[in-house]
Amino acid sequence: MKPTIAPYPLTRFRRARQSSAIRGLVREHALTTDDLIWPVFVRDGEGIEEPVPSMPGVVRRSVDLIAKAAVEAQAIGIPAICIFPYTVPRLKTEDCAEAWNVDNLSNRAIRAIKSAAPDIAVMTDVALDPYNINGHDGYVVDGEIVNDQTVEALVKMTLAQAEAGADIIGPSDMMDGRIGAMRRALEGAGHHNVMILSYAAKYASAFYGPFRDAVGAAGALTGDKKTYQMDPANSNEALRLIERDLSEGADMVMIKPGMPYLDICRRVKDTFGAPTYAYQVSGEYAMIQAAAQNGWIDGEKVMLESLLAFKRAGCDGILTYFAPQVARILQG
Ligand code: PBG
Repeated sequence: MKPTIAPYPLTRFRRARQSSAIRGLVREHALTTDDLIWPVFVRDGEGIEEPVPSMPGVVRRSVDLIAKAAVEAQAIGIPAICIFPYTVPRLKTEDCAEAWNVDNLSNRAIRAIKSAAPDIAVMTDVALDPYNINGHDGYVVDGEIVNDQTVEALVKMTLAQAEAGADIIGPSDMMDGRIGAMRRALEGAGHHNVMILSYAAKYASAFYGPFRDAVGAAGALTGDKKTYQMDPANSNEALRLIERDLSEGADMVMIKPGMPYLDICRRVKDTFGAPTYAYQVSGEYAMIQAAAQNGWIDGEKVMLESLLAFKRAGCDGILTYFAPQVARILQG
């Protein structure tokens, strides 16, 4: 039964906003460090930390410094870190073989983090784009991004990551049928506890621009990703994709980008009740940082407000480049 709202002045909503104490008492949602997954960029070399110009405050780190960053993240309570490799052009090929090389950058970073900071969960990215000569997430055959052949490669990539010690596999490729194939392969190889966080509702978005600079994919990409990533105009399709991925064995699901798609987050959470995450992507991060650097907004306040919005929309957690800054603030 819907409670009735007594008319003014019996009800005065401002009573509940009169002081910090009362506002705290009636507050519905809160952001905590438990909600954070920190995406990091790894590059080759040693002792290197190189800024990403289009993402002020974000750097690409060599494996040794990634491990050090993971130790720091663990110390400030960040539960998970997500690795994205910057692959040098020479390792990008048509067959994308570097993707399942057990000693590739990403797999070395997993092992380094696992030995330096064993309590932080390590998440990976599964898609061919860092290794693909044409920058696409799948194989390109006669101008078409082919699905089933790509899924076979993604399975090999998944197994190499699980072997390296990944806790959470994050397929961001948007091929059909990959969740089931990956889940069966993981079970078959004895990786029963390795989780799959499906980028189930991933839109073909212009908000990924700075990320493609960060991983060195911007130059490589020919054409766009509209034949596999979702049309931003669709909402019901997101629900159907998420239902499909959950039925194939996804443990958690993601909506991406984040802030422009909060309506999808809410619908997904209400419909399935599954662990639901949003990715506050590179373009969202860059916009906030750029406006803050210009003095046009209070960067810290906007960061916290933007992340709280995900909690209000039903998300259980957020992938965000702000994770360390936020964790430090939340820890006081
Ligand atoms: C690639 C991938 C992308 C992002 C995560 N994984 C870019 C893309 O699909 O082109 C974007 C993340 C961000 O913008 O922060 N599979």
